[in-house]
Amino acid sequence: MIKKISHIAVVVPELEEALGFWVEALGLPLTHVEYVADQGVEVAFLPAGESDIELLEPTDPSSGVARYLQKRGPGMHHICFEVEDIQVVLNRLREAFVPLINEEPTIGTGGKKIAFIHPKGTGGVLVELYEMTAEEPQRRREIVRNMRRRLSQGSSVYTAGMRAFLSGLLQQNGKPETEKEEL
Ligand code: CO
Repeated sequence: MIKKISHIAVVVPELEEALGFWVEALGLPLTHVEYVADQGVEVAFLPAGESDIELLEPTDPSSGVARYLQKRGPGMHHICFEVEDIQVVLNRLREAFVPLINEEPTIGTGGKKIAFIHPKGTGGVLVELYEMTAEEPQRRREIVRNMRRRLSQGSSVYTAGMRAFLSGLLQQNGKPETEKEEL
């Protein structure tokens, strides 16, 4: 069963610049930024109701996302559906002869399961399937903490605006005052 649209991913040449539109002008919140090493991308998560807009900035020029950006320019990259049971959905797609990029789900950080459906089977749209694990919310909180550590080390990649968003998020999550002061 498909639960919801998890996220819509957009490739951007530079996260900071893209946040000027998505966050400052449009008004979406920024909840966290994550470096996904195996895909060579820095990802910013911007919740819009039940779903997220995910901005992808390729940091490794040899990555698939970097090649996509070079070839097709910035823009929409994929749609991701959160599913109850990824194996059930993959079996269903196989029975319908839909070509899959991942015949078996890849296991991401925290045990989440991910598989991509080939655009040639979807009318040109790259579709991702995602089965969330119980550990995921905790993992995301840890990422936010790590982000704050990086910010406090004076990384030039992140703007003051992003610090404010992260700090706001941590306050929502009820983190103790001492941690906030580290920023
Ligand atoms: Co995705």
